[in-house]
Amino acid sequence: MDSTTPQVAVKARRGTIVGARIEGIGAAVPDNVVTNHDLEQRIDTSDEWIRTRTGIVERRIAPPEIACSDLAAKAAERALENAGVAPDEIDALILGTATPDTPFPSTACWVQAKVGLRKVPVFDISAACSGFLYGYILADSLVRTGTARKVLVIGAEVLSKILNWEDRTTCVLFGDGAGAAVIGPRDEGSGLLAHTWGADGNLAPLLWQPAGGSRTPATVETVEQRLHTIHMKGNEVYKHAVKAMQGAVLEVMEKAGVTEEDIDLFVPHQANIRIMQATAERAGIPLEKVYRTIQKYGNSSAASIPVALADAAAEGRIRKGDLVLTAAFGAGFTWAAALFRW
Ligand SMILES: CC(C)(COP(=O)(O)OP(=O)(O)OC[C@H]1O[C@@H](n2cnc3c(N)ncnc32)[C@H](O)[C@@H]1OP(=O)(O)O)[C@@H](O)C(=O)NCCC(=O)NCCS
Repeated sequence: MDSTTPQVAVKARRGTIVGARIEGIGAAVPDNVVTNHDLEQRIDTSDEWIRTRTGIVERRIAPPEIACSDLAAKAAERALENAGVAPDEIDALILGTATPDTPFPSTACWVQAKVGLRKVPVFDISAACSGFLYGYILADSLVRTGTARKVLVIGAEVLSKILNWEDRTTCVLFGDGAGAAVIGPRDEGSGLLAHTWGADGNLAPLLWQPAGGSRTPATVETVEQRLHTIHMKGNEVYKHAVKAMQGAVLEVMEKAGVTEEDIDLFVPHQANIRIMQATAERAGIPLEKVYRTIQKYGNSSAASIPVALADAAAEGRIRKGDLVLTAAFGAGFTWAAALFRW
């Protein structure tokens, strides 16, 4: 399912009034930095291999006492402050994560209590690395239909807790973090211009956490076999990721009627520098317009895009009126792309 604001297909210039906008953005990452050199001490890997194959130099890893909702709540408070919005103005909370505090209740409920939101609807979405963009697209439709005026959308992960730290093919890739956005009614010229989102469950076993759900509940054996950790066929995921991200980016640009020259900044999901470059190249976007945080955070799944947006905004790389392109791909498989005016 996908859609475009009808008037946007015709014109997406500065000044056009379109969908819900990001009013404020915030991020929170753990203080603890784990470098590639630190990993060299623990497993059979090298800084050189990780950097050249992925672009990652270091990542943030949460201490044992920090759960998903702790990072998410901090990011949410920063987004609210950045937007100048009080917690009681929020009408709904959508939280994307693959590493919830608890299977139930949702991590969104834990965050609601921490941040002090009213008794509004709050829920998690399970769309892995596409979680934040799925959340933004959902929030946009809530705002546009008048169901909610302001929606908090969060992408938050503590992937370090579900990594097999002896599996060098996965543990070097991921990191922890949270990013949040306050989504509110459009104002002149800003907001979501076009989006696409999709999924293909046939490919689920290429990237998954095999145990801990109702298919394979936790037992001593599942723990011994490390079935509660990320299992991934990296090569195959890579190929699908490039294809899906390229297709999604071209689709939203066409829907909005914009060219690569109109894009001010491309903020792709930060999974692998080579996937990001291949996507940008296919869309004709020069690398200097590709925003990167992968070198310092690794792949933080649902958190990667909102954390990158928060960093880019803080650095002045995104300014009011800029046209920002985002695209994500993750377990499921799921994918999404969104083009919006900041
Ligand atoms: C994981 C990924 C970086 C691996 O890169 P690759 O170039 O495909 O590497 P391969 O898996 O083919 O492995 C090449 C060799 O490096 C080795 N290797 C794997 N991980 C290693 C590590 N951390 N350190 C050193 N060597 C490693 C492999 O064992 C293999 O050795 P072999 O040739 O002797 O068998 C890449 O496939 C990738 O990024 N995939 C997508 C992952 C992703 O984005 N997942 C999340 C989706 S949101």
